[in-house]
Amino acid sequence: MRLRVPASMCLLLTIVAYLAELPEFQGMVTAERDSQEIRPIYIGGFFPIESHPFFASLPLTVQTAVNHVNNLTGILDGYELRMRWNWTQGSPANALRLLNDFVQNGPPVLMTWGPMFSSVAVVVNEVLPRYNIAQVVIASSTTLKDRARYPLTVQVSVDEDLLNPARVAFVKRMGWRRVALIFEDNQYFRQNMAKLAEKLLENGITVLTTEAVTNAEHPDEQIQSLKRHDARVIITAFYPEPAAKLFCKVYTAKLFGAKYVWILPGWYPDGWWRDLPDVPCDNEETATALDLHVAFDGDQAVSEVSRIDFNGVKPFPEQIEYLESLHNMEDNSRDIYAYDCLFTMALALNASIGELRQLDPARRLDEFNYGDQEMAQILLRNTLQTEFVGLTDRVVIGKGGVRHTTVYVEQLQNEHPVRILNYFADGEYETIPNATIQWKGSVIPVDGKTEIPILTQISLPFQISIYTAAGIGVMLSVIFLALNIALRNQRAIKISSPIINNLIVMGCLLLYTSVFVSGVDTSGITDGAFIVLCYVKVGLVCVGISLSFGSLLVKTYRIFAIFQKAVARFKKIDLPDKKLMSVVMALVLVDCVIVTLWVFLGQSTIRTINLDPKLSDTASPESETYIIPVLRQCGSIYEIYFTCAIYAFKGILLVFGVFLSWEIRNVSVTGLNDSKYIAFSVYIVGITIVLAVPALQVFVNNVDIHFCIFGVAIVFANTVVLCLVFVPKFALCYSSRGSQLHISLMDAPSVPTTSTSLPASCRDRNRLGELRDTLRQKQESLADLLRACQAQAK
Ligand SMILES: *[C@@H]1O[C@H](CO)[C@@H](O)[C@H](O)[C@H]1NC(C)=O
Ligand SMILES: *[C@@H]1O[C@H](CO)[C@@H](O)[C@H](O)[C@H]1NC(C)=O
Ligand SMILES: *[C@@H]1O[C@H](CO)[C@@H](O)[C@H](O)[C@H]1NC(C)=O
Ligand SMILES: *[C@@H]1O[C@H](CO)[C@@H](O)[C@H](O)[C@H]1NC(C)=O
Repeated sequence: MRLRVPASMCLLLTIVAYLAELPEFQGMVTAERDSQEIRPIYIGGFFPIESHPFFASLPLTVQTAVNHVNNLTGILDGYELRMRWNWTQGSPANALRLLNDFVQNGPPVLMTWGPMFSSVAVVVNEVLPRYNIAQVVIASSTTLKDRARYPLTVQVSVDEDLLNPARVAFVKRMGWRRVALIFEDNQYFRQNMAKLAEKLLENGITVLTTEAVTNAEHPDEQIQSLKRHDARVIITAFYPEPAAKLFCKVYTAKLFGAKYVWILPGWYPDGWWRDLPDVPCDNEETATALDLHVAFDGDQAVSEVSRIDFNGVKPFPEQIEYLESLHNMEDNSRDIYAYDCLFTMALALNASIGELRQLDPARRLDEFNYGDQEMAQILLRNTLQTEFVGLTDRVVIGKGGVRHTTVYVEQLQNEHPVRILNYFADGEYETIPNATIQWKGSVIPVDGKTEIPILTQISLPFQISIYTAAGIGVMLSVIFLALNIALRNQRAIKISSPIINNLIVMGCLLLYTSVFVSGVDTSGITDGAFIVLCYVKVGLVCVGISLSFGSLLVKTYRIFAIFQKAVARFKKIDLPDKKLMSVVMALVLVDCVIVTLWVFLGQSTIRTINLDPKLSDTASPESETYIIPVLRQCGSIYEIYFTCAIYAFKGILLVFGVFLSWEIRNVSVTGLNDSKYIAFSVYIVGITIVLAVPALQVFVNNVDIHFCIFGVAIVFANTVVLCLVFVPKFALCYSSRGSQLHISLMDAPSVPTTSTSLPASCRDRNRLGELRDTLRQKQESLADLLRACQAQAK
């Protein structure tokens, strides 16, 4: 026995030593021993496009992550993670075929990696829950957040909707109140933009237009619309290639430069616009249009690879080496998300192991089948609770199945994206040292023209000068009126019908008042008061003209009647002041009727006319603040008829007045009346009206000139008429000073002028004058008859 024991020991030792030198054999033994413990579990992989350089490396990256999981102690110990995968070529049909393959053949997959494209994910992920397969996807889409349709979907990449609060906060931070949206019309961007528009409106920001580009090749129409809306701050949502096409069009349409701010998604690969075959612009042109654009992204990479920590498990040095290489790779965002996506799944599976053991019956991960709802729920719950530091920094998934991310703002400076701001969920931004936002102009571009409507007002110098002139006119009228009343019994005044002259003064006073009314500062008054003012002005002008010009007219008519009828036909003419006054009053009545009808039938409204905008601050034209003078005018439905009625009425009077004045042009009786001056007054009024009315129409939109023409016309005509009517009379009255006055016909030089030096009583003088008048008239009639006879004789 003693001998046998050492002998057998020896043999055993030899075998052991032999085995140690045979690695294959050892492996076999290990495999044999572990076959009870290491259980393969499967996940599915939907990879996008094999031939595309952006995506070609993804399966390798994910497979490496799988290997890392398998080689790390502390994650899925006792299991071997394996991946069944294929390319979908970005087509939902292919993805469904692959899913069918997962379901029909081979071992079941517990979870899926991908799909990567949201267009594929929205189809496949709706089917996957039927087989209780949870999906962890890089795809992000508003649609995928519908928990009823996609109960088992978890998004580990930045959700486009997460960018929206940051975009809104940025727009507010820049002080913009107007933005425009343009997006590629697909499921991914459509809802995101709708939500953005909603959020903007909530924050009091106007969305000038939302342009959906259905044909990415031809966004021309949408670009024109942006131009039409004068959009300056434009938020875009496109995939990189359509975006490059868009910016080529932007370049052609010259919608770039200091006036425009383009806001893009920030997750495009570096230099995404370069060397694209279907973009008609060259790289520089597109880069010009893109220069200094602002982009939003939540994508991020961990600052130091050494910080990576899979929930307490640190990667091995060899793994760190690989992670380091991924971290330093240019344009690595897809690969680092792919890696972290796999680790999210692995950690969720690991965390589920214990819970599955608690189930009744207890289960292991490898015992999954497509009918196991309970297990799917556990996997989902653990996925939502994932928390680790990966290549994409902290991975924290919230209840909604969407990853929490810090959003940041970057700007393309010298063709390189520079991170300029970090956004915190509370609406605050943090600036990043040494990075400042740049603008092409000297200040932040404005969101568009600012137009400030201001009611036009007559400028002070014009108002003051016209008011002064009108004031002098009023004083003059009052003086004339006073003198006219005081001296009414003087013969020089008396024979020229002082009552009718008073009417002239009254009319002139009304007209002067209309000047004051039309110069009133209307900017502070209500529309109602403005309408009242309009009618007051119209009424004053109409009645004023009727009184003053009507009085002149009747006086002229009397002269005409006396000389053309009475003298020529030896008839006595009966035209006392009373009759004349009633004619004037009739004219005023017609005015009153027209204006009253206008007020009550016209249904007055206010017309506002926006005049040409003026730059408000010429020192800083980039602020684009314009002042729009707004003109208020009275309007009413029958305006044209009433205006025509008034013009026609006044026009007839005018023509009649001019005709009469012409007829009596040769009549001149000193002392008896002032026919020449009256005729001259009528001409003055006529000419003024003929010149002023069209001029007022021409300058209807220029309050200053309009007011000046109106004021000058009225003050001029009024004052001339007043002076012509009154000054000669007062002069005559002054020169005769109540002592003597004769009346003589002055028109014919052949008629001798009677001397004025007859001392007599006033009555005698009058009597004498009348007799002389009669004599003169007879002489004239005789002369006329003689002339007529001679003419007949010839
Ligand atoms: C697996 O892990 C061991 C250490 O546990 C390490 O030596 C080995 O290189 C790793 N293999 C791979 C392929 O990562
Ligand atoms: C992927 O699918 C194609 C056919 O669609 C098939 O030929 C190929 O073997 C599959 N590859 C893998 C890795 O399953
Ligand atoms: C994996 O699960 C085990 C328990 O099953 C746990 O002890 C371990 O901490 C988990 N690993 C990680 C990285 O969470
Ligand atoms: C900012 O610039 C200064 C000087 O150029 C430099 O010393 C500092 O390290 C920079 N800071 C960062 C965070 O880049």
